[in-house]
Amino acid sequence: MSQGAQIDDMRRLLGDGHTTMLVTGGAGFIGSNFIRHVLKRTDFQGTIINYDNLTYAGNLASLADIEREFGGRRYLFEHGDICDYQRLEDLFSKQPVSVIVHFAAESHVDRSIHGPADFIETNINGTFRLLETSRNAWKDRKDVRFHHVSTDEVYGSLGATGEFFENTPYDPRSPYSASKAASDHLVRAYFHTYGLPVTLSNCSNNYGPYQFPEKLIPLVVLNALEGKALPVYGDGKNVRDWLYVDDHCEAIWQILKQGSAGETYNVGGECEKQNIEVVSAICDVLEELAPAKDNPALNRQGGIARYRDLIAYIHDRPGHDRRYAINCDKIKRELGWKQGHDFVNGLRSTIAWYLQNAAWVDGIRSGDYQKWIERNYSARSSHTNRGAK
Ligand code: NAD
Ligand code: TYD
Repeated sequence: MSQGAQIDDMRRLLGDGHTTMLVTGGAGFIGSNFIRHVLKRTDFQGTIINYDNLTYAGNLASLADIEREFGGRRYLFEHGDICDYQRLEDLFSKQPVSVIVHFAAESHVDRSIHGPADFIETNINGTFRLLETSRNAWKDRKDVRFHHVSTDEVYGSLGATGEFFENTPYDPRSPYSASKAASDHLVRAYFHTYGLPVTLSNCSNNYGPYQFPEKLIPLVVLNALEGKALPVYGDGKNVRDWLYVDDHCEAIWQILKQGSAGETYNVGGECEKQNIEVVSAICDVLEELAPAKDNPALNRQGGIARYRDLIAYIHDRPGHDRRYAINCDKIKRELGWKQGHDFVNGLRSTIAWYLQNAAWVDGIRSGDYQKWIERNYSARSSHTNRGAK
């Protein structure tokens, strides 16, 4: 198959009730949203197997509604590690997997700084083993397609101007982004060397329901509600592009349906914001939906009248990439995808979801979560007083 050739039986596969799609990392933030999106909002007729080893970031409670509605019929959970080659081979020999959507990864930059080993193992070796299994199945059956989910962070860090395009040279700068870059290279190598039909997507920062509260937006929402400091790294002026998770899921669905073999598609929100703008916007939405003046957690702390008063600038992340900006003209032009959510609406519905899902939040903030918060934030004492903004 040559680069750019449409994977022409994909529409048939996705509309066929016998098709089995393997989603790795389906118990994580984007994977669980993707499974819900495909089963509830597309014309996919087949079965999804969610293959996940349930790290701290994996949570089956994020799929409780899917289990109730589709469990045992069109949705199956398999507890397994992508690094376990034999387990993958067994799975592929028992199940007729033809579409693989690969989300499973260690995904948090700060954790990769504290402990890179898991990132190398899962993101590089795990992807390698999944590729090998997929290639073996494809040699026999030819109806195997592989989509790899990656990040804009592989392109490096931008100054005040410029954008990442699909052909921007890779320049990863954290253990996380370096491990994702390595996995992207492997996926492309399997296309060029063996002909495995692959597609890739590189997306910007996702936000939305079911995101683990180690990432900026849910961390700030939950800290604010508890009257805790809202930690802003460095000067707060690092820029990220924010993509609502449902828009990302729909982009992947369109790539599966219409994408061309060997091609990469950038997916972005076209919504660049400085971190301090994001944190301030969260405070403003919270003032509307759960006013600080009525929040007993804040009232206990004399002098804290507004969520904004909780903002605390703290010591920066080592090697903190300054700015990401993604150009997603290609997927818009070639596949007709576009974002359906702007930041104002997306942020509001995300915050409303966290307010309405206290049981989900309580369930994941286990002892391990508290240990992580202690580890990441205790050494970074505040370098300005609360209320700096
Ligand atoms: P996440 O951390 O919320 O979830 C990762 C999931 O993978 C978890 O369910 C975890 O249990 C599972 N997993 C981890 N190691 C595994 C292993 N060895 N075997 C099987 N399962 C394993 O991540 P996310 O935010 O949903 O990200 C999903 C993908 O999207 C990742 O590949 C990530 O690099 C990429 N991405 C994420 C973002 C973002 O903003 N969240 C942005 C760009 C790209
Ligand atoms: P994060 O959600 O960790 O995503 P990524 O590092 O993959 O972009 O962080 C988003 C931005 O927010 C990033 O510039 C780091 C910054 N940040 C803070 O300022 N404070 C925090 O407590 C966290 C978790 C992130």
